[in-house]
Amino acid sequence: MAEPVQTPQAFPTRIFSGIQPSGSLTLGNYLGALKRFAQKQDEGIETLYCVVDLHAVTVWQDPARLRQQTREIAASYIASGVDPKRSILYNQSQVTAHAELGWLLSCVARIGWMYRMTQFKDKSGANAENASLGLLAYPALMAADILSFRTTHVPVGEDQKQHIELARDIAAKFNHDYKTDFFPIPEPLIEGPATRVMSLRDGTKKMSKSDPSDASRINLTDDADTIAKKIRKAKTDAEPLPDTVEGLEGRPDAKNLVNIYAALADLPLAKVMEEFAGAQFGTFKPALADLAVAKLGPITAEMNRLMAEPDEIDAILGRGAERADAIARPIVAQVYDIMGMIRSRQV
Ligand code: TYM
Repeated sequence: MAEPVQTPQAFPTRIFSGIQPSGSLTLGNYLGALKRFAQKQDEGIETLYCVVDLHAVTVWQDPARLRQQTREIAASYIASGVDPKRSILYNQSQVTAHAELGWLLSCVARIGWMYRMTQFKDKSGANAENASLGLLAYPALMAADILSFRTTHVPVGEDQKQHIELARDIAAKFNHDYKTDFFPIPEPLIEGPATRVMSLRDGTKKMSKSDPSDASRINLTDDADTIAKKIRKAKTDAEPLPDTVEGLEGRPDAKNLVNIYAALADLPLAKVMEEFAGAQFGTFKPALADLAVAKLGPITAEMNRLMAEPDEIDAILGRGAERADAIARPIVAQVYDIMGMIRSRQV
């Protein structure tokens, strides 16, 4: 029997977020997501973090590489401070609730909503008819990731905002269609100076693992020399740094580097402006490179240490999946019940 449906006020605060194991992680993933995920653990809230392997296969993945990258993302979560004891860390395909609720919610969501997603447009390119059906349905699975746990808050970078808005629409439509308030309407948490880290080659474009130019991004696997070189070569303009945040307007490359500095140093932007007011990039860039190496070096070293023990990573993901399953399974059972499906199998 389903539990009585709860009112939204009764939802405990719960955080969920995910990262795709498709390509190596960038400084954008670290500052926009990983670093903030670790911080959320210290706020006394339940946190679930997922390696979303079911999302990765919406474009073809080499199986051996997918396994390797799933472990690499798990290692980068842990190396960035996500503690698998305090948080629930697992890979999506080990918890069947995601796929099950993904199907149910793809029957609630509308096709037109999917076609409007900028990520679908970007990834499907000129030949959208040839994209996988999964790539189009991706946001319904993402809504299921969030709603399988009746998540209330979703920390993400700016680029995921549209997907979270869609998850909210799907939750609201489900509640409306089935005359219930079963799902909370999840809130995106897009906070801090680095919600959109930009390319080092073009301050108007997002830093991305799929950019053809490796010089456009810092990878979490880059060594100290590579990081320093990429920052030295980062695009800038000819002016010295201004003394106020407003002075950065219209200077996307300069603004990006200052934002990165503030996020890495955990300083308010105004404080960084004060420190570097009037500085030339010849002074600022080496300071940024030193800071980036000091902050990222230990993370890369820890990732490498963890990657040397793949069985240990798999065991951590397995234990996390057990815990995630224990939360999600009864929630999805209630969704089946609300939708009118008979659940009489004895297990
Ligand atoms: P993904 O794997 O592309 O990115 C993982 C996280 O990193 C953030 N991010 C950035 N933040 C700041 N600046 C950047 N340049 C930058 N690039 C990436 C992303 O915003 C994201 O938070 N669809 C999601 C994964 C997902 C998910 C979910 C997220 C699946 N299900 C449920 C939250 C809740 C994605 O592809 O993220």
